[in-house]
Amino acid sequence: MARKKSIEVVFVCLGNICRSPMAEFIFKDKVSKKGLTNIIKVTSLGTSSYESGNDTYYLTKEILDKYNVPYKKRSSTKIKADDFSKYDYIIAMDHDNIYSLKRISNKYHNKINLLLDINEDTKGMIIPDPWYTRNFEETYSLLNSSLDMWLEKIIKDNEL
Ligand code: 4NP
Repeated sequence: MARKKSIEVVFVCLGNICRSPMAEFIFKDKVSKKGLTNIIKVTSLGTSSYESGNDTYYLTKEILDKYNVPYKKRSSTKIKADDFSKYDYIIAMDHDNIYSLKRISNKYHNKINLLLDINEDTKGMIIPDPWYTRNFEETYSLLNSSLDMWLEKIIKDNEL
């Protein structure tokens, strides 16, 4: 059976400069290591325009450097209702993100996931916002372990 050309994944947080770009770059690295870069497309967006146009926060970049995760310059962008149709997986960091996403679009709610729901042990838990906690190590550690599980799920769901 002909498969859809690519699978589109978007990570979503509030400001789109800390958590969702960190998730985007960690996930891209994992996808690349599996040789799936041409099939699984990964990006990130925010539910607000607070940081619109700004690059990834410097402390997120510091953590990515520390763990040898490559990243590129980017520009914080707010998700629009029109964006929802193109993504297969919309993966949010916390319950506020999910609430905001559901207000931005009244469709495609079935595509919205809480990131830590992927693991029975962390179901319902949030990725705390390091903008406020200043604990970027915690963000990295929570994302890194759960994103392996997301990649396994996406590979399985799509028979890759
Ligand atoms: P993020 O963190 O949602 O993980 O990108 C934040 C970054 C900036 C702001 C809030 C959260 N802000 O209010 O500017």
